[in-house]
Amino acid sequence: MRTIDHRLLIVGGGAAGLRAAIEADKHVDNLGVISKVRTLRSHSVSAQGGIAASLGNTGDNESDSWKKHLEDTIKGGADLVDRDAGEVLTQNAVENVIELEHMGVPFSRTSMGTLDQRPFGGHSLPRALYAADRTGHAIVYSLYGENVKRGTTFYDEFFVLDLLTEGRSVLGLVAYDIKTGEIVIFRAGAVILATGGPSQVYDLTSSGTASTGDGLAIALRNGIPIEDMEFIQFHPTGLKDKGILITEAARGEGGYLKNDRGERFMKRYEPENMELAPRDKVVRGMQREINEGRGINGENYLHLDLTHLSREKIKRKLPTIRELALDFANIDPVEQSIPVQPMAHYCMGGVPTDIEARVQSKEIGVAWENLYAAGEVACVSVHGANRLGTNSLLEAVTFGKRAGRFAAQQASSSDGVEVDEAVVSKYGSRIESLLENEGSVKVSELRDRLKRIMTEKCGVFRSGEDLKEALNQIYQLQEDYDGKLVVEDSSQKFNTELKMALELGNMLDYSEVIVEAALAREESRGAHFRTDYPERNDSDWLQHSLLHRDSTGEIRHQYREVDT
Ligand code: FUM
Repeated sequence: MRTIDHRLLIVGGGAAGLRAAIEADKHVDNLGVISKVRTLRSHSVSAQGGIAASLGNTGDNESDSWKKHLEDTIKGGADLVDRDAGEVLTQNAVENVIELEHMGVPFSRTSMGTLDQRPFGGHSLPRALYAADRTGHAIVYSLYGENVKRGTTFYDEFFVLDLLTEGRSVLGLVAYDIKTGEIVIFRAGAVILATGGPSQVYDLTSSGTASTGDGLAIALRNGIPIEDMEFIQFHPTGLKDKGILITEAARGEGGYLKNDRGERFMKRYEPENMELAPRDKVVRGMQREINEGRGINGENYLHLDLTHLSREKIKRKLPTIRELALDFANIDPVEQSIPVQPMAHYCMGGVPTDIEARVQSKEIGVAWENLYAAGEVACVSVHGANRLGTNSLLEAVTFGKRAGRFAAQQASSSDGVEVDEAVVSKYGSRIESLLENEGSVKVSELRDRLKRIMTEKCGVFRSGEDLKEALNQIYQLQEDYDGKLVVEDSSQKFNTELKMALELGNMLDYSEVIVEAALAREESRGAHFRTDYPERNDSDWLQHSLLHRDSTGEIRHQYREVDT
């Protein structure tokens, strides 16, 4: 079995992983980045609208400050934001975006030559720096370039199966080389998980196909709790039936949402902020319009109208969404409204970390010496119950950078680390048994059933009854996965069906947690709306949920106070 040694390993090559690698390189000379896709295909490239920082340099936002950014973030997050983490996020935002600019991110500028900023939902002032509507793309390419310059070692198309651990210490990880079918041991003095989010468990999502939340399942397998998983964000404007993001910046630049009667219906729900209310509120407004029959032609979508904006503005500030609408809906937003509907976009929950990005949850006695997490897989609790747009890229670079620094400082050499080959060979056997399984249920069929359950029963609106049904159906899918799954492609090399089967195992594992957490939280807060408990209930529920799988396989619930 091939063994590869690094002082530090970073799993994931999106914005958080790449930023971590740059910072870590200042402290260690032997780090590796492992990604199950080609690095530049990581989902962060599809972030569009911007990255938040209280620069206050456009004339109409001069009074901005990190404190206002923090207040907006806490309010938008329905008070479930941990203040220590929120302070780190907002206080360091200006420095962190300027660093990106120095690494080459071509942020759009004002006519005065200063970095431009646009409005976004839930932010009280224009605060989003942007590179037209390709901000994530610009950031990932610049971070990647910086890594290439520094000589970072990349392992693309390696699927991480599990951590190798001893007590509360990580020794490395075991991965499957998608290109060759080989099991490979990576030994390391510290590991950073930056594996992204789980939105692929929903039918319609803005997230790339790689967003299968593998890091969440890895955490659960190691007895690590995952936090606040009931808070799944739905983005208001997915291109109808396609799950392609039409950036919120389109509304930031002045776009309207309209129903079948041509009404700007948000006046019914959020008369003050209208289309620029926080996402959870806009999405619920949209879903209510659809449920009450005011979708376009009575169907399940609405219109995003940009036709009153000038052609020049759309071409300059929103070129990507114009291209996407033309290519995928045959609609030119300069002349026609774009058909849009809510879709899964982001998970506020994740692997619990402290402000040094170390995986831990002191209250319930789980503290890991050398395991870190950043980006969407992590929950440092800066987004609370509902993330504000543009705070995710900021979280990825802020806590990616911190994870890189603190993990590198903590990472000892992996020389002499003993890895039990018997433990590793069980992963080889697992892959063999998936390949030899002679069941009758296809991977794609089981995956589609899971997506349907999550969409229908654990979506924008949830009820106890639906969630209980979802849970029973997920148990059934888990049984089918164990007993009836068939992987039809038996090839060793580049077996994408096998990769999909491994991803599905992970998705089934943490979907149970998402639904359990949603069922347990008997209130409505942020992105979690229970039709049977429509009110927010601070006296019982101003707390974070932490669910883990115990050694018998049961899900256990624990809670911790919010740092207010
Ligand atoms: O709509 C958008 O551009 C999304 C931004 C975000 O989720 O931060």
